[in-house]
Amino acid sequence: MSPTKPAIPRLLLAPMEGMLDARLRDVVTRVGRYDWCVTEFVRVTDMTLPNRCFRRVAPELRHAARTPAGTPVRVQLLGSDPFHLANNAARLVALEPAGVDLNFGCPAPTVNRHRGGAVLLDEPELLYSIARAVKTAVQGRVPFTAKMRLGVRDPSRAVECAQALAAGGAEGLVVHARTRDEAYRPPAHWPWVGRIGEAVDIPVVANGEIWTLDDYLRCRAESGRDTVMLGRGALADPFLAARIRAHEAGEELGPVAQEWSRVWPLLIAYWAMVQEDVLPRHAPGRLKQWVNLLRRHYPQAEALFQRLKVLREVAQIDELLRDFAAATQPSGLACRAA
Ligand SMILES: Cc1cc2nc3c(=O)[nH]c(=O)nc-3n(C[C@H](O)[C@H](O)[C@H](O)COP(=O)(O)O)c2cc1C
Repeated sequence: MSPTKPAIPRLLLAPMEGMLDARLRDVVTRVGRYDWCVTEFVRVTDMTLPNRCFRRVAPELRHAARTPAGTPVRVQLLGSDPFHLANNAARLVALEPAGVDLNFGCPAPTVNRHRGGAVLLDEPELLYSIARAVKTAVQGRVPFTAKMRLGVRDPSRAVECAQALAAGGAEGLVVHARTRDEAYRPPAHWPWVGRIGEAVDIPVVANGEIWTLDDYLRCRAESGRDTVMLGRGALADPFLAARIRAHEAGEELGPVAQEWSRVWPLLIAYWAMVQEDVLPRHAPGRLKQWVNLLRRHYPQAEALFQRLKVLREVAQIDELLRDFAAATQPSGLACRAA
């Protein structure tokens, strides 16, 4: 992250455990130009993980830490023990990720119960120790960033936490502009990201509740940030990044709903990838999750989801996609669902 104002906006693709995996990173970065993405978290407890644990979450490590479209992939660690986080960061760095990121945002009760994720925002001293240990382990070989929420219950210690991470050596911060207790409920408090940005001298990125170009523009105005990270919005509208870039270049991409014919091949490509390496009993769930998010913008996705949600078998889903393609897509695209 550069502290100088970039000529074009920086767009980052968020980590989303259980949802935005390497396959979806591949698909989404094909159509939207992201400056980098961050993997789902790798959980660190009391041991140094074998390389395969990092490669499972980030198969891109086998390909110079880039998606097939060339987008750099940073790997996220989650834990609370400075020593073990540092050891794992050192091992990870040897695999040459595009960066190392730390998770201080996860609200999941099981993770928080084991002192992982957002619950650590009650302990800025620990944040400092973790950042310092990881910074030492990374040795400047790759960028080192952290992702945080505004706090556990309220944002009263948000600035303190950000300052602790910066003082410990984090080179950039992504701020998901909600507290842990707010989970994913709108709104995101974008002005808080601005307050944090003014209190530290490292780049601060705004994240949370950016679903549309308009949200993006309001987030930038309210947070005063040049760089934003897109999460669910990047899946609900796979063209959101392209739409933002086009707008910044003085062009328009047109209404979202007109592009279902461009979303469809992405969905089919994703389904093919899921079938290659996800167990058949889990594969339908992966597709449903994405289609569920697409419903936000695409009426066609709503229609598809209503039929998809009751199906459990891969073969049933293949058949549904063939039917659906025949009914809604130009003939060339329908063939690809077969
Ligand atoms: C299903 C899901 C999984 C997530 N997993 C992670 C994760 O592994 N690491 C992390 O830092 N944030 C994670 N997040 C939080 C997102 O990165 C992001 O901060 C949040 O969704 C807000 O952005 P959005 O409103 O654009 O989605 C997750 C969010 C969701 C919805």
